Amino acid sequence: MPIIHPYISDLRTALQPYRSQQRIALVPTMGNLHDGHLELVKIAKQHADIVVVSIFVNPTQFGVGEDFDSYPRTLDDDAKKLATVGTDYIFAPHVDEMYAVLPPSTSIRAGAITVQLCGQSRPDHFDGVGIVVSKLFNIVQPDVAIFGQKDYQQLAIIKQLVRDLSYSIDIIAAPIVRAVDGLALSSRNQYLSPAERQVAPILHQELQYLAQQLADGAHTQQGLAALIVESSTRISNAGFNIDYLEVKTLQLEALNNKTSKSPLDVQDLIILVAAWLGRARLLDNQLINVNQ
Ligand code: PAF
Repeated sequence: MPIIHPYISDLRTALQPYRSQQRIALVPTMGNLHDGHLELVKIAKQHADIVVVSIFVNPTQFGVGEDFDSYPRTLDDDAKKLATVGTDYIFAPHVDEMYAVLPPSTSIRAGAITVQLCGQSRPDHFDGVGIVVSKLFNIVQPDVAIFGQKDYQQLAIIKQLVRDLSYSIDIIAAPIVRAVDGLALSSRNQYLSPAERQVAPILHQELQYLAQQLADGAHTQQGLAALIVESSTRISNAGFNIDYLEVKTLQLEALNNKTSKSPLDVQDLIILVAAWLGRARLLDNQLINVNQ
């Protein structure tokens, strides 16, 4: 079983002997682990000798009325799952070990990249992610950290954080892990009722449809707008409440309006969606593979 450390000082002492000769990987999580998280650990093991998984439901990234209190805390089960993939240490601090005061006096503002997509409905979310990930980087001082590509905006913000704060940490993006019917794995999928769970894969199907349309033909930005309306209608009719369905560049920049009538360079694009289905806010995204 992995060794569980709730205290920063104990974790630092445990990791110290490895630092000179061995590579340390960090997999940050909020627990309630599923196969997607276990894949992150497997990838971490390919890049490092020692794998630390943090399990911390971070209050600063939840907004008022969000599911901080009800977010499932399942440390014992998580530790058993992590043992099956060879995790060495679990860092599972209490809130007061991480934050002397809430909100913390120091803030991280990730800037323009946060004021779009998820940031529109969760305005302080990414600043909360920024501070906790920064703290985890300082506590663990890993050589490499693994983040899932499902949270594409979060991944982009963390790459920016590493660049802007000069962390010497390689960030590895892990592919999205899906259920057999295509639904992206997420801890929040458990909020879905059985009927909603049947409907949920439609989100991925629509992303695939859009990606295929874009890969197949020379679409203009105007044509893309029509495709998005078509897909949005089907998603809404299936019972989702769409937060956003957008196509961006891989750097999360908006498409350039000046070229709305020129064919799009689809290899540089990503389709991103967030939508509520009942109590669950589902996120997904799809790159466009022109060779598919
Ligand atoms: O992706 C998550 O689970 C969280 O946002 C993270 C990166 C662990 C920070 O709390």
